[in-house]
Amino acid sequence: MSKERIVVAYSGGLDTSVMVRWLIERKNAEVITFTGDLGHSRELKGVKEKAIHTGAVKAYVSDLKREFLEEYVFPALKAGALYEEAYVMATSLGRPLLAKGLVEIARKEGATMVAHGCTGKGNDQVRFEVSVAALAPDLQSIAPLREWEFKSREEEIAYAQKHGIPVSATIKNPYSIDENIWGTSVECGVLEDPMVEPPADAYQRTVAPELAPAKPEYVEIVFEQGIPVAVNGKQLDPVTLVQTLNEIGGAHGVGRLDLVENRLVGIKSREIYEAPAATILHFAHTELERLTLDKPVFHMKHQLAAEYANMVYNGLWFSPLRSALDAFVNETQRTVSGLVRVKLYRGRVDIAGRSSAHSLYNTKLATYTEEDTFDHQASKGFITIYGLPVKTYNQVNGSGVPLQTPSALIAEAEPVA
Ligand code: ARG
Repeated sequence: MSKERIVVAYSGGLDTSVMVRWLIERKNAEVITFTGDLGHSRELKGVKEKAIHTGAVKAYVSDLKREFLEEYVFPALKAGALYEEAYVMATSLGRPLLAKGLVEIARKEGATMVAHGCTGKGNDQVRFEVSVAALAPDLQSIAPLREWEFKSREEEIAYAQKHGIPVSATIKNPYSIDENIWGTSVECGVLEDPMVEPPADAYQRTVAPELAPAKPEYVEIVFEQGIPVAVNGKQLDPVTLVQTLNEIGGAHGVGRLDLVENRLVGIKSREIYEAPAATILHFAHTELERLTLDKPVFHMKHQLAAEYANMVYNGLWFSPLRSALDAFVNETQRTVSGLVRVKLYRGRVDIAGRSSAHSLYNTKLATYTEEDTFDHQASKGFITIYGLPVKTYNQVNGSGVPLQTPSALIAEAEPVA
């Protein structure tokens, strides 16, 4: 009987290299590796050779950058989805796509299992396994890090050396880093103390705001139906566009975030994020929506953004709710086209101008000059009827006296003799 086949999500790092060997030994299986390139600064060139050298029978490497941006990142951008109102979810958005890649290779190679290198206390294990379950209910997910015997990096290194697996110099890095084109996530080491300010070396792709140029830089971004399509007058493909903004923003120290966040598994963790392009694009996109969206739609969309972010963060990318919310979001984006000018300066992104053919800003209505066409007289009747319920209530229950005396505040305000 032929051996069972396992497809492994492989980065080429220590954990996933040890995993390849360990699965071959323990599960008596054939291992096939899959490396999805979501946009790493690190060279992925030697990865295939390393996988084969480590014992894999086959190694796949796919460039998923464009698919990542078009199918995962931009929907979340259009939704305005920021986890806990801050995190652009570069890591969270990447996992479902990597899971999809694993499933595709598993189908092609007739594998019955897929494996990932996530730990047993993070969000990523959930994202991988729920995505695999959604896309291929019959495939089994294995998480060797949850079950293997190694208790430290040193033990893993010893195992790697025993089996002739090349251990690269990167193991000296004091942080755990996950990066892709949409952002970098950094944790562990001294960052585990939330009172410690991140040392300079915790940041990978942005300069410190205080070391950034003393001169601001203006950047113009064009959106078409919520999707960024041009920077500084140049039409760009999604990958080049995001790379360009990462470079410009990174040089101005834009997109750093130091966050204590609530994980799905119930713990609080502290992570440093760097996402220059994502920060600029979320900001600019929202500014364009302020100009082009109808008020109730803008407000409703803002509420749903938090739901959308929770869903993505919590591993439910492949869910009916996400499809339903995307339908709503896409409907709102029909008029979110136009130009946003932002100003980058020492870690800040500020609005410097916006315009759109769908702008709902009407100067004739907004102006305080003689150009004004707003019907001031109409306000009188509007206010009478609008204020009628509260007026009636107070006529019945008292005339404007607060129902509860804010005694604590009054006491506080009294001068102490
Ligand atoms: N906390 C982030 C998330 O759950 C990132 C997790 C991975 N971080 C890392 N440094 N390896 O999306």
